Amino acid sequence: MRVVEVTTYGGPEVLDMVRRPEPVAGERPGRVRVRLHAAGVTITDLRIRAGLYADELSPLKPPFVLGADFAGVLMDPTAGPEGTLPAGARVAGFVPWYTERSGEGTYAEVVQVEPGWFAPIPADIGFTQAASVPLASVTAHQGLERLGLPAGKTLLVTGASGVVGRFAVQFAAAAGLEVTAVAYEGDESELKVLGAKHCVRRGEVADVLAALREIAPDGFDGCFDGALVGEAILPAVTNAGVFVSLADDRTPVPVRDIRVETVLGKPDARLLATILKKVEDRELITRVADVMPLEEVSEAHRRAEEGHRPGRIILMI
Ligand SMILES: NC(=O)c1ccc[n+]([C@@H]2O[C@H](COP(=O)([O-])OP(=O)(O)OC[C@H]3O[C@@H](n4cnc5c(N)ncnc54)[C@H](OP(=O)(O)O)[C@@H]3O)[C@@H](O)[C@H]2O)c1
Repeated sequence: MRVVEVTTYGGPEVLDMVRRPEPVAGERPGRVRVRLHAAGVTITDLRIRAGLYADELSPLKPPFVLGADFAGVLMDPTAGPEGTLPAGARVAGFVPWYTERSGEGTYAEVVQVEPGWFAPIPADIGFTQAASVPLASVTAHQGLERLGLPAGKTLLVTGASGVVGRFAVQFAAAAGLEVTAVAYEGDESELKVLGAKHCVRRGEVADVLAALREIAPDGFDGCFDGALVGEAILPAVTNAGVFVSLADDRTPVPVRDIRVETVLGKPDARLLATILKKVEDRELITRVADVMPLEEVSEAHRRAEEGHRPGRIILMI
């Protein structure tokens, strides 16, 4: 089968398509094989490829295969969140790549995954759309759970133009929170449709903080830091508020009795099944920015690195 390896840490050019033997049934006990149709390119992939997590990942070293999000077809039957899934069922999910550290990601034709990592794709959703959902939506949901804010409280979402941020805005608004989104210029109307009450244009932190003070002079009850701004955005949170970070290396030291949490998205098949159903019912919006063949993965990484993309870049396999 074809896989894309990170041959050594570096720029997008270190990604190389090679052939590896296709896994056989039962090769990894407790896992089933999925023949992939689509895989997502995430910012975490870019950071791993660049070597930013080389120390944390050690002893795992290149060559390894990147990729968390996937959508494809089951090759082995298994138990699903709501009953048995036969071979041939369409499924989507994510490999907890960063915690697994096996280097067996989804930039590949076949992956071996645990049944708790995926859920069936509803009939009205295609593979590319499905692959844009799992990691970002589950992480956003778990981040909001960790915030633990009741309806009516104020929430700041940074990186609200991003894939995780858009889901966070939608979940928070549905939970009755008053959402202020820090977002890319031009995304304001879309974010208001998704549920944000206020939008502030991303930019210099001092300017962003000044604009946020006009909306919440005493600070926000919580912050979901989808842009990994970290410590610099903490002044926007009220005393004894709560702050959710999405990366250990961007988690601020708590001050003023602010509760600071770091969230690593954990697969949850049942939660993902509910989310995918909401996407099918148009209760949740997901966006795909680009669909590119697996062969063009280096170009996909270059585009992702250029910055603002309105949605996930998906590799078609
Ligand atoms: N903990 C976990 O399990 C987990 C899971 C998924 C993702 N993540 C992390 O969460 C972050 C968001 O992921 P994603 O998939 O949503 O990425 P994404 O789609 O690229 O979104 C990131 C957003 O943050 C914005 N941004 C970047 N720097 C900023 C700054 N200094 N100020 C304001 N906005 C800024 C970006 O704006 P532009 O588009 O204008 O550049 C973009 O809209 C990534 O860093 C990723 O590594 C963590």
